[in-house]
Amino acid sequence: MVRSRYDDVVDFYVDGFDSVKDPVSRALLNLLGPVEGLRVLDVACGHGRMTRELARAGASRPTIGVDSSGALLDQARRAEQDQPLGIRYLHADVTTGDWLDAETGFDTVTCHYGLSDIDDLDGALHGISAALRPGGRFVFSILHPCFPGAEYVSGSWPAGASYYDEGFWTADGPYSTLRRQVGANHRMLSTYVNALHRHGLRLDEVAEPRPDADWAAWVGPAALHPVQFVARCLKFAA
Ligand SMILES: C[S@@+](CC[C@H](N)C(=O)[O-])C[C@H]1O[C@@H](n2cnc3c(N)ncnc32)[C@H](O)[C@@H]1O
Repeated sequence: MVRSRYDDVVDFYVDGFDSVKDPVSRALLNLLGPVEGLRVLDVACGHGRMTRELARAGASRPTIGVDSSGALLDQARRAEQDQPLGIRYLHADVTTGDWLDAETGFDTVTCHYGLSDIDDLDGALHGISAALRPGGRFVFSILHPCFPGAEYVSGSWPAGASYYDEGFWTADGPYSTLRRQVGANHRMLSTYVNALHRHGLRLDEVAEPRPDADWAAWVGPAALHPVQFVARCLKFAA
């Protein structure tokens, strides 16, 4: 059975991350542009907060969400049952070759805060690129790989290591409440850009949204650095 580290933190995650009004979600939606009538796939969709937003914005039916956490998908499916938006959820590890089935030719693939949770970046980008039609858009957000952290907030890499030390690790900053539980993969920005390129995805536009004022006040000097990275890529025409 496919499992996710998020299966063990469902209530915590849903309670803390249920809105798309934060600066990073807004930046992602902004880079995405209108989705009305487009075929949309939301990779690492979790409990579907972004998938629902895309469906509400008029993505063609069914909007598809895929995630490896059965427990988060239960929440997503419950929301779809209560308020149907025409979303179909798939339970799969997107780094395996077989999750796409016959589903290709998407106009748009999104991945909101998913790539650093995915252990095999090449495997995921292979599937994402295969899902897109030539010229289609891939829009993603991640914790900024250059974010150094501050006193109470872990940076992108462990204390005592450096930006150049890539790998999976578990944060220990007291304010890094999610990454203390599920960890994350740190990769350099160049690793992301080169991997995207290897899979036929060319960077088209990027954003580094300023954190909102409440968060900035909460974390203090950590907010002086770029915290989030959002990008739109285009799949090369064959
Ligand atoms: C931070 S959550 C983001 C969820 C959602 N996109 C959101 O914005 O709320 C990261 C998600 O990546 C999923 N994930 C991690 N590895 C995965 C994989 N190999 N295949 C599919 N989903 C994966 C986790 O289960 C989790 O739901």
